Amino acid sequence: MTPIPWTRRHVLTLRDFTRPEYTLLLQTASSFQQVLARRNRKVPTLQGRIVVNLFFESSTRTRTSFELAAKALSADVVNFTASTSSVTKGETIFDTTRTFLAMGMDIVTVRHRDSGVPQAIAHDLEQLGSTVCVINAGDGQHEHPTQGLLDLFTLCHLLDPTDPRPELLAGKKIAIVGDILHSRVARSNLWSLQACGAEVHLAGPPTLLPKEFSSLGATLHYSLEPALENADFVMTLRLQKERMGDYLLPSLREYHHFYGLTHERLKWCRPDVRLLHPGPVNRGVELSSELLDDPRLSLVSQQVTSGVAVRMALLYLLGGGKVA
Ligand code: NCD
Repeated sequence: MTPIPWTRRHVLTLRDFTRPEYTLLLQTASSFQQVLARRNRKVPTLQGRIVVNLFFESSTRTRTSFELAAKALSADVVNFTASTSSVTKGETIFDTTRTFLAMGMDIVTVRHRDSGVPQAIAHDLEQLGSTVCVINAGDGQHEHPTQGLLDLFTLCHLLDPTDPRPELLAGKKIAIVGDILHSRVARSNLWSLQACGAEVHLAGPPTLLPKEFSSLGATLHYSLEPALENADFVMTLRLQKERMGDYLLPSLREYHHFYGLTHERLKWCRPDVRLLHPGPVNRGVELSSELLDDPRLSLVSQQVTSGVAVRMALLYLLGGGKVA
């Protein structure tokens, strides 16, 4: 399939991403992965452009990854942290983005604890007639498109390092285990993995796995074994305690007893199974420490590495320019 030229202004959700867009994104990320392996990791693509990372919520991987990606493309990068900004003096989010707009920002990445904030910012900027591109870096429990894209790249790159493409996932069984209810990562992955032909199985306690998810095309399991049986890949998620009300779980120990991943439990999967986790990890809760640290099974560090190349690809496609 010949990839289509990129036409998107913003990346707010993966819900409407098409197969040719995934193909183009994976190919572009693959080129940037080669750039990142060179001694000189910088290309001039976004020289003179301003990328603002607007983070209203804590983040280690995503914010740093956007920063490294933008710097590798030679952009000027501004890292905004809400706790040390004028937001604490009562300034609204829109006034904050308008401030950066007045300083000439070209691309803004937005993370916020409430769903819909990146969409609202994109709308406000469009109303002002601006051409700034908005990337959703995780909004509430809604979506985390760049995590979905980096997970997709990690899987496809593992299956064919020379030509990572969406078709490689056709018919693969992927189990996503844990706190699905509060997970924007699960939602974005559901869209991308299914669009690439994978079979998505979701597993978790009923309080964290609403039955509505079956209407999105996934198969639901309230026990681990049928979800893991013959799985090609397993993705486990953190219990998002900051988004949980009381009484959703009896205890972390009981959760680990029923849903925690261990070497023993991964024996239910295919022999060549590999494990993903978006991080941050709570060791001994959603998975055993030994499993996380097992390089034969865990793809966690590859996910983090992929994140920079995938975000470079997105910034490049939104901002325009040449890879080399
Ligand atoms: C996730 C997030 O913030 O949505 N982490 C990430 O971006 N790598 C998942 C989480 O917080 O558990």
